[in-house]
Amino acid sequence: MIRIDLPDLAATTALAEMIAGALVPGDVVALHGDLGVGKTTLARAVLAALGHHGEVPSPSFAIIELYEPPAVRLPVVHADFYRLNRPADLAEIGLDDYRAGAVLLAEWPDHAGGFAHEPGCLTLRIEIRDNARRAIVDPGPLWHNRGLWT
Ligand SMILES: Nc1ncnc2c1ncn2[C@@H]1O[C@H](COP(=O)(O)OP(=O)(O)OP(=O)(O)O)[C@@H](O)[C@H]1O
Ligand SMILES: [Mg+2]
Repeated sequence: MIRIDLPDLAATTALAEMIAGALVPGDVVALHGDLGVGKTTLARAVLAALGHHGEVPSPSFAIIELYEPPAVRLPVVHADFYRLNRPADLAEIGLDDYRAGAVLLAEWPDHAGGFAHEPGCLTLRIEIRDNARRAIVDPGPLWHNRGLWT
């Protein structure tokens, strides 16, 4: 596990850019942390680094928002599972179909049963420390040879 201080938005953006540069289809970025800790902020910065211009609505109502090439380097599913009542409801949403060939940016991943068992899952726990943030990073096995935290 790696601890990364995020004293300001620029630090969060820099972390998001690092992650975005390493993403391959099938990956999950699991964004844990309390309400308002900065999960959507990080997801927005990842999408921007992948080429997306313009708005990134918080998917809390729709649960998922899709981003497709050529506007982004690779397909992205941005999900906020906060309102998901039961992980079983994932089948109804059709998450697996949307995820095929895509990257999943997941807020409130625990509400969807969690993704840490997937080898391509990068787990990020964001915490508030005073006014700043800190990320605890736990890379799945597929992230170990990407040169990010070696
Ligand atoms: N270092 C930082 N990194 C990220 N966000 C920060 C930082 N410092 C302050 N903020 C602010 O914290 C807020 C984070 O809001 P955001 O919507 O990203 O949270 P969230 O974790 O997605 O919340 P929710 O659980 O409601 O979806 C923003 O207003 C952002 O500007
Ligand atoms: Mg959010």
